[in-house]
Amino acid sequence: MTLSQLSDVAILLTFVLVFCMVAVPPLVLLHLWWVDRRQDQHAVLRNYPLLGRLRYLLEHVGPELRQYLFDGDREGKPFSRDEYGTVVSAGKYLKTLISFGSKRDFEAPGWYLRNALLPTLLDDMHVLREPKIETRRYVIRKEGLFARRERLEPVEVSPWTLDEAHAPVLGADLANPWTLGGIVGMSAISYGALGRNAIQAMSQGLAAATGSWMNTGEGGLSQHHLMGGGSVVFQIGPGMFGVRDPDGRWDWELFGKKAAIPEVCAFELKLQQGAKIRGGHVEGSKVTPEVAELRGVRVGETIDSPNRFTMFDDVESLLDHVARMRREGGKPVGVKVVIGGPGALDELAAAIAFRGDGPDFVTVDGGEGGSGATYREMADTMGLPVRSGIVEADDVLRRAGVRDRVRLFASGKLFSPDAMALALCMGADAVNIGRGMMVSVGCIQAQKCHTNACPVGVATTDEKLMRGLVVDEKRWRVLNYVVTLRAGLIGLAAAAGLRSPTEFERRHAVYKDAHGRTWSAEDLFPTPREGDPAPDRRYDAAGMAGVGAGRIVPIAARVPSGAGPGPDGV
Ligand SMILES: Cc1cc2nc3c(=O)[nH]c(=O)nc-3n(C[C@H](O)[C@H](O)[C@H](O)COP(=O)(O)O)c2cc1C
Ligand code: SF4
Repeated sequence: MTLSQLSDVAILLTFVLVFCMVAVPPLVLLHLWWVDRRQDQHAVLRNYPLLGRLRYLLEHVGPELRQYLFDGDREGKPFSRDEYGTVVSAGKYLKTLISFGSKRDFEAPGWYLRNALLPTLLDDMHVLREPKIETRRYVIRKEGLFARRERLEPVEVSPWTLDEAHAPVLGADLANPWTLGGIVGMSAISYGALGRNAIQAMSQGLAAATGSWMNTGEGGLSQHHLMGGGSVVFQIGPGMFGVRDPDGRWDWELFGKKAAIPEVCAFELKLQQGAKIRGGHVEGSKVTPEVAELRGVRVGETIDSPNRFTMFDDVESLLDHVARMRREGGKPVGVKVVIGGPGALDELAAAIAFRGDGPDFVTVDGGEGGSGATYREMADTMGLPVRSGIVEADDVLRRAGVRDRVRLFASGKLFSPDAMALALCMGADAVNIGRGMMVSVGCIQAQKCHTNACPVGVATTDEKLMRGLVVDEKRWRVLNYVVTLRAGLIGLAAAAGLRSPTEFERRHAVYKDAHGRTWSAEDLFPTPREGDPAPDRRYDAAGMAGVGAGRIVPIAARVPSGAGPGPDGV
């Protein structure tokens, strides 16, 4: 080809390119305008073709714009930027320091912790500071407008676990009791809701923190949960994944095998969850061959669990089942519940007292709790927030005289030391954290957990997306988050003049109203004693509880006199 031919071709190509740049966009826009105008599904687009599309764009990026630009530091939900930042900072830098002062609105009503005139010296706290744990933390080398350069450096930290004499023990009468040295552990989240890498990072980080635990969630126990070698609470929901036979019935032999796994420290029957009083749901897109095998379903099949265990339909049959689990498993058994209102646990507590057996722990999940998939109406309105729930549960167990043998776990946005301390004041013995753990492994609150499209590889089983979550990096963050939480909690207990966070009581939580008047939680909800009568109720707890709903039976009529705390005592 000659030079002049080459130049002709170049001119032609330039002409075509310019034509495309000038003529094609208007043609495409004209086509879209025509499509919008003629479609019959969206009124906005029919009336405002093309322009109406902006609405979808803004809807799509709205959450991100609010999160990064428009929400105040303490405003966003479920977690504000400040709350989110605290978890990330603990995980990355092992500290949650702020400077210049709190951003809290001190005029608004809210809860405070009572400090002592003379705090306890940290050296006198009943906690373990040795042996130190090896971890990694980030150090910022250079921070620019578009990038931050950091490096991981090795460092040793104290575990801040409770010493043996002060750590709560569950199931002391069993062959394998469980000691809660760490006070805080992971709340139930299944493999399937979370991806493999997230589970592995949590398993390793929690095990390294010592004294903590991870809860499998209702999706069954996988090798990834066992990877770190730490304590694992095996949760069983109405789907009974991991302990059911091919026909979907409870399989005691399988249960025995799970109980024999050394890492399994306890079982938890999930009766309810704060965000949903309904069966678990996992979209088919998340059901990989491994998840399917674990749960005994087909690959790609959407999983919907029943909304209640089918094998128990009253408190008696529930407690019979718990008793057999304890007997055959030799490990503590708990139930996870949501407190719906006054009297929610009256019948259960009375039955525990009457029979002299029952669960070793009750996990109270607050209505503010999270879920991989739920419906707004249920998440918003059903189930009390956690602090109210703990008080109700603590009260009823005390009145029934069984508080010593039934431990209370609490969950529901208790992701910071002050939130944990308030929960302990109200009556919790230990705290479970769900979403805080997810943030520690990289969750950015995109709120797409149910879609399998989690952009950071946390709540997805998609191999390509999971790649983004590097286990070897995130496990340090889980470990750092947990020990920073404990250190913060110990600091608060010391400031309150206590020698251990287990000594928090209602009098240490103080409520201030909008006028500045104050009451301790003890003033507002006096701690009952064994045998104290229950507050007058216009309805019966069982009548409101679902099974047998509508029966109005005085509680006294169902508890034989002379047994347990007696009719007056419940
Ligand atoms: C993605 C996701 C999955 C969850 N899966 C379960 C589950 O399998 N079983 C359960 O009892 N709770 C489940 N939960 C609820 C948590 O265990 C916890 O009770 C609740 O989120 C409150 O704690 P948080 O505020 O610290 O997240 C899930 C929560 C999330 C966010
Ligand atoms: S980033 Fe979004 S989708 Fe992923 S775990 Fe967090 S909230 Fe769920």
